Amino acid sequence: MSSSTNPLANKAQAWSALFAEPMSELVQRYTASVGFDQRLWRADIQGSLAHAEMLEAQGLISAEDGAEIRRGMAAITAEIESGAFEWKLALEDVHLNIEARLTELVGLAGKRLHTGRSRNDQVATDVRLWLRDEIDGLLALLGTLQRVLVDQAERHADTVMPGFTHLQVAQPVSFGHHLLAYVEMFARDAERLADVRKRVNRLPLGAAALAGTPYPLDRERVARTLGMDGLCQNSLDAVSDRDFAIEFTAAAALGMVHISRLSEELVLWMSQNFGFVKLPDRFCTGSSIMPQKKNPDVPELARGKSGRVVGHLMGLITLMKGQPLAYNKDNQEDKEPLFDSVDTWRDTLRIFAEMLAGLQAVPEAMRAAASRGHATATDLADYLVRKGAAFRDAHETVAHAVRTASEQGKELAALTLEQLQAIDTRIEADVFGPLSLEGSLAARKGLGGTAPDQVIAQVRRHRSRLQA
Ligand code: ARG
Repeated sequence: MSSSTNPLANKAQAWSALFAEPMSELVQRYTASVGFDQRLWRADIQGSLAHAEMLEAQGLISAEDGAEIRRGMAAITAEIESGAFEWKLALEDVHLNIEARLTELVGLAGKRLHTGRSRNDQVATDVRLWLRDEIDGLLALLGTLQRVLVDQAERHADTVMPGFTHLQVAQPVSFGHHLLAYVEMFARDAERLADVRKRVNRLPLGAAALAGTPYPLDRERVARTLGMDGLCQNSLDAVSDRDFAIEFTAAAALGMVHISRLSEELVLWMSQNFGFVKLPDRFCTGSSIMPQKKNPDVPELARGKSGRVVGHLMGLITLMKGQPLAYNKDNQEDKEPLFDSVDTWRDTLRIFAEMLAGLQAVPEAMRAAASRGHATATDLADYLVRKGAAFRDAHETVAHAVRTASEQGKELAALTLEQLQAIDTRIEADVFGPLSLEGSLAARKGLGGTAPDQVIAQVRRHRSRLQA
């Protein structure tokens, strides 16, 4: 087909007969999105095929046109997959590039494809289809990451480490329990994502430019073909709604913040002052000047990357703030932050699952750290309560005991029975159980507590949840 009969092929010169002059090269570059939206090509073709199938079923295009469109799209798919497809900046975006090529390949049938649709409902459909599949991939990765942590938690159900508040030694906790706290966060991330998916997976197609279309479309049919859960019900909203992208990015930002918190702990734990864990060498790098260094680059970078995803959330939400109904070109700016949020979160989850599977705990270092800082002081107060003291009084008594121990350069748990009895006569030989790290852990056996038995119970709960 010659370009003179294909208006899209002339777009570089001018949009249509209406335009008296072509775009400057700078404006073309400024307004084009094909450089980044070409990654939507598969969704674009999928959406077009579903639309064409419905047009045919409704008698709006002939069976021959339908067959030609399918043939052309199959050829285009092969071209794109092989790298032979020529993306043209002059054709602005993924939609016009594919449509122009289709018309080149199959002529009039290609020109009929755009019946009853606009790029406005088309792009919204493409982004939703693409994002839905990415969400499914992310959900699988979040599942893998949780399983890795659950396995580590089981291994370390009775590995004692210091628990911190204000980054000061507070009470001993099980390392497995600590890891399961992150499983809770990642489980919520997955829950949130599954909820966002419901609003992503709705069909805008059929809204056309903004007002709907006079053609008797069967939108329900298109939704079914595309596996969508329902229709966008208002045409103005359908083409201009980007809530789903904002919601997704909010979920991604929070998900990356969880990764960032874990990263901060990994960085601390790997430092010589903690020495709680070792990460496999392939996730660390050396220093160009200090030969002894092994740096936790991956967690550091993940902590850094969380910032850019939070930034994307701010970018997207601000993008929508001043927009009147319905579609505005502003919306083209939704793609790069959304794509980068998906890519960053996906790669991070992948790397973390592998890295955490290879994480090695150093239980001796954790135990040594938990044995400093009078970590079982609360247990002594609880002991005195069991012996009849009021908690506030017991708290005060133990504060004295800690002071005595500190003055002698000792840990509270290392005081002798006589020294303890000098502080409170109710203290007996049975105090050393509660004062020990194991005793402290085992006592916290209520639901959600750090007792190893409870950790194992939680491991089982997570396993059956993650199987379902
Ligand atoms: N590339 C455009 C976007 O990403 C497609 C929709 C263009 N619609 C329009 N009326 N200019 O938003």
